[in-house]
Amino acid sequence: MDQSNGYERVAAAFLAGRGRAPSTAVGTREVRDWARTLPPGAAVIDLGCGTGLPITKVLVDEQLNVYGVDAAPSLVEAFRHNLPDVPVACESVVESSFFNRTFDGVVAWGLIFLLQPEEQRYLIQRVADILLPGGRFLFTSSCGTEPLVWNDGMTDLESRSLGAAEYRKLLSEVGLHVTREYEDIGENHYYDTIKATSVNRQE
Ligand SMILES: C[S@@+](CC[C@H](N)C(=O)[O-])C[C@H]1O[C@@H](n2cnc3c(N)ncnc32)[C@H](O)[C@@H]1O
Repeated sequence: MDQSNGYERVAAAFLAGRGRAPSTAVGTREVRDWARTLPPGAAVIDLGCGTGLPITKVLVDEQLNVYGVDAAPSLVEAFRHNLPDVPVACESVVESSFFNRTFDGVVAWGLIFLLQPEEQRYLIQRVADILLPGGRFLFTSSCGTEPLVWNDGMTDLESRSLGAAEYRKLLSEVGLHVTREYEDIGENHYYDTIKATSVNRQE
């Protein structure tokens, strides 16, 4: 059964486009700037990493200790060719064990809105679980801050951004604080978040 939300079916087209994009493509500047705020050698996992180009490679070029997860077998095969030294798991982010470790950073570029709303909520919880205190989670949704449903440009399957109010609420519930929101030239809306270093308990 396809767990890639249609991306395995369109793998040939993806491999010929975004999947071979250079390190100047949409999103790379934003991810590079984010990566440069992390300490050298920080452990970062790229969720929905595709072929590793262009986003994972940016993380590798910034000397981070990078891991990847993607559910499309053909894209993971290309990833292994593009970045042979980077561990990558071919599995759904909804079921992944994330290499049974914790991370300083998590990136999800162009992924979260492909998931069902309950899967998005679950993934945000899982990201909070695998982040170290003070760790960072950067992800993109559709343009703007309103909830939106549309058909994905590659797969034609339904995508849904839950909207900024809902994302901020879900993030806050699991101890992730939004430090910054912004958009790139491709109108992707970024949430840059940080995990609290301590939990405030009320006696
Ligand atoms: C729009 S592409 C973005 C790929 C890459 N992040 C980039 O910037 O080019 C979405 C990616 O998410 C992957 N994907 C979709 N659903 C997934 C899931 N449930 N678990 C893991 N990967 C998934 C697809 O296979 C595809 O590689």
